[in-house]
Amino acid sequence: GAAVEIDITGMQPDEMRTVEWRGKPVWVVRRTPEQVAELSKIDNELADPNSLRDPTALTPPYAQNQWRSIKPEYLVVVGICTHLGCSPNAKFEAGPQPSLPNTWPGGFLCPCHGSTFDMAGRVFKNKPAPDNLEVPPHMYLSETKILIG
Ligand code: FES
Repeated sequence: GAAVEIDITGMQPDEMRTVEWRGKPVWVVRRTPEQVAELSKIDNELADPNSLRDPTALTPPYAQNQWRSIKPEYLVVVGICTHLGCSPNAKFEAGPQPSLPNTWPGGFLCPCHGSTFDMAGRVFKNKPAPDNLEVPPHMYLSETKILIG
C-alpha cells in the first residue's frame, strides 16, 4: 500500500489524530511531559517493556527506545490490539477510572478482552494481548508532517 501523510500542526497534549494506512488506523498521540516521564517508571508492570519481542515486525530501530518513538512527545502506533484485532480505546487520564487499576498511568484499553497498554502502546503483564501495539514505519517530513509507510 501507498504511504500516507498526517499533519500534526497545532496538536495539543493528550490529542490523538488518526490516519488510515493499508486499511488500518494509525494513531498519532501528543504525550504530556508527565506521560513521557512515566514511561521510564513502569517497566516492571509491562510484558515487554523494551520491545524485544519480534522487534523487526513491531518496533522499527528508530523507535527501540523508552518512548517507542522518534520524538518523545509523539507516539505513532497502529490502533489494533495484538490479541484479536479490536481497536483499543484512548484512556489518557491517569488515575482511577471504571475497569482500570487505581494506579493507571494513562494509555489504551481494549474493549474486547481487557488488554491494557501504556502511553507507548506497551502491553501490561497478564493480559490476553501477547505484544505491544505495532509502531508502523514512519518518518518526519517536517516539524508538522509525518509520513507513514
Ligand atoms: Fe484486544 Fe482481545 S482483541 S484484548
